[in-house]
Amino acid sequence: ATNRDQDRAAEARGDLPELGSSVIPALPGAFANTPDTDMSTAVNQAWAAGIIHRVRTSRLGIDEIEAAHVSTHDGVDAVYTRALAAQKEWAARGSSERTEAVRRVARVFAAHRADLLEVMASETGKVLEQGDAEISEAMDFALYYAEQAEMLEELEDAVLTPRALTLVTPPWNFPVAIPTGGVLSALVTGSAVVMKPAPQAKRCGALIGKLIHEAGIPEDLVQIVDVPEDEVGKALITDPRVDQLVLTGAYDTAAMFASWRPELPIKAETSGKNAIIVSPHADLDLAAKDVAMSAFGHAGQKCSAASLVITVGSVARSRRFSSQLADAVMSLHVGYPTDPTAQMGPVIEKPEGKLADGLHTLGDGERWLAQPQMLDDSGLLWSPGVREGVKEGSEYHLTEYFGPILGIVNADTLEEATAIQNGTAYGLTAGLHSLHDGEIAWWTQHVEAGNLYVNRGITGAIVERQAFGGWKRSAIGETSKAGGPNYLVHLMDASDVVGRR
Ligand code: SER
Repeated sequence: ATNRDQDRAAEARGDLPELGSSVIPALPGAFANTPDTDMSTAVNQAWAAGIIHRVRTSRLGIDEIEAAHVSTHDGVDAVYTRALAAQKEWAARGSSERTEAVRRVARVFAAHRADLLEVMASETGKVLEQGDAEISEAMDFALYYAEQAEMLEELEDAVLTPRALTLVTPPWNFPVAIPTGGVLSALVTGSAVVMKPAPQAKRCGALIGKLIHEAGIPEDLVQIVDVPEDEVGKALITDPRVDQLVLTGAYDTAAMFASWRPELPIKAETSGKNAIIVSPHADLDLAAKDVAMSAFGHAGQKCSAASLVITVGSVARSRRFSSQLADAVMSLHVGYPTDPTAQMGPVIEKPEGKLADGLHTLGDGERWLAQPQMLDDSGLLWSPGVREGVKEGSEYHLTEYFGPILGIVNADTLEEATAIQNGTAYGLTAGLHSLHDGEIAWWTQHVEAGNLYVNRGITGAIVERQAFGGWKRSAIGETSKAGGPNYLVHLMDASDVVGRR
């Protein structure tokens, strides 16, 4: 049995797992990503069944975990006053104390993996296996940014000064990894952090805060606040004491925040309208499977998700690929996280506006290859929708829907397909399925997106192995990528020194 299996056996018996027992230490000079739970073993399946039981019966009492409500301007003022007082003491500590504290957060997360999974499943509907990978990513952020902070300490001829106060506003779709990465990256540089979770993921945010404090990080230094989206929420951003904003969310929201205080440094990862090209040189079986998972994992609610597949030449002309894709999509198991076999979970809210249109209405010349069906009365559980005949320049081509819909566009050549892929306002993720070296080389030179994927799915960037972030309207402000080597330095102010002593 692996260490992880032993932990799970202990946890199944009700023993408290030893802190850090499932964090694999990095070899010197090599960053080791945190492994996900192997759900194929009986002991881990029993562990997952225990979490599902808790989701059904709310044994942890996650309803009682709450972010601090701040509903007045005075409340915002008090949050920032406390944060700045705590930051003075934090910045005065040695860098090694800060990196150690941030590494401890990864160990606490490892010990509370089940709690994190429970709250993600209960609050946002994330299925266990996908939530599990997200916890690994959150731990990777802690360990990686700690390592990066140590490397910055070694820099000569540059002085890096932390910004005192960072505001982090994460989304609900990755309610653990993205907030954790945002908070810990700023924290390890020496900043105090105020984090306002998305309204749909407040309890995830509150649990993250509790675990960060359990790792010994002072409560005033990292504060998780629940602030209404009114003028008090606006004051959270416009308060002149905030030195920087780290945001992940829709482009329009980020643009609005940026307009409120144009001088505020912003690091925003925003929307996407991502496509996978399937060339005549592709392995079509692999392509159908990768397109299906990229489009419908987490019900398509990822900024990185595929919402277009662009078929080229003979792939477009024959029915073979589209019928394989229809089979792959129809065989995805849709269900709530309480169903251990669910691959695609519910949407976060009853679809309204753009997503409701996308699920119900076809554009000119489009038809359903798989028509989305509402699977129960909640309005949350939908079968995947695939529309064919999407035209270049149409509303579906250009708009982000953020849900379980995929559109097929036909192109004659790879050049034309790449122009369609580049033809949106965004540039986050992009894929090519082709086994032809020349095509791959040409495409990687011409595609306009931050994260490129060849012969695989287009979601799930891995910390350190592939930094994550986009071009064009997929980012606003400072655009160094999450989980990559330039991230921390852009959260600090740099002075470059020359001269003699
Ligand atoms: N980092 C995620 C992915 O790569 C999206 O936020 O899918």
